[in-house]
Amino acid sequence: MFSKLFGRKKEERDRFELPRNEHANWAFLGADMHSHFLPGIDDGAKTVEDSLTLIKAMIGMGYKQIITTPHVMIDYYPNTTQTIQAALQQVKDAMAANNINIPIRAAAEYYIDESFMKLLDTEPLLTIHEKQVLVEFSMMYEPPMLFDVIKRMQAAGYLPIIAHPERYLFFHKDFHRYKEFRDRGCLMQLNMLSIAGYYGKNIKVIADELLSKGLYDYTGSDMHHERHANTLKAMAGTRDYDKFIGYPFLNSRLV
Ligand SMILES: [Fe+2]
Repeated sequence: MFSKLFGRKKEERDRFELPRNEHANWAFLGADMHSHFLPGIDDGAKTVEDSLTLIKAMIGMGYKQIITTPHVMIDYYPNTTQTIQAALQQVKDAMAANNINIPIRAAAEYYIDESFMKLLDTEPLLTIHEKQVLVEFSMMYEPPMLFDVIKRMQAAGYLPIIAHPERYLFFHKDFHRYKEFRDRGCLMQLNMLSIAGYYGKNIKVIADELLSKGLYDYTGSDMHHERHANTLKAMAGTRDYDKFIGYPFLNSRLV
């Protein structure tokens, strides 16, 4: 059910492996603003050791800052600001003990559903930058309340960042819908792995088109595990890597 919800096929992910490149350098991006590095609270790092492995991989790729974004999704990962901050502290303590140095803080990747609407009314959201909030929704169908939620976020003073728009399959045949997000004042965040083809050809085609049309604002690793890290390393030196160079992503402003 969960893999269906996210439109990912585990077998496809397991088959995907580019040759490794230990010299990958993503330093020009500055900050990564989408990842799942906090241990045991979502489908990313399972243990603190996993967290450290992934954070060390980010340092190795030249990142200067990490804003990690655990899922907040009532049915699967009922995280709160408290669970997120506690897990972040655990990671910071382990980083200090192991002499791993990179600025790290936590925001969240909020899943748009009825419970998110309630949350919006009851407590402050964790932000990527100023009032910018990372949101995602079902990859299989368009939530009926999607634009209502976006309006309510904006009325509350937030600026929605739509996580990985290229992965919402129901928009693929309706490309103008992507412009609608921009027209309605949202920002859009590209998953770097989409450009690598990690999620399949169809998603890569859409990501390439959105990127070439300049419709993205941020890019993020959306890293959950080492296979993701290895794919990012392997992109360096490829034509896909070159597509990121010179693109005016806002990431560097986060450092
Ligand atoms: Fe994510």
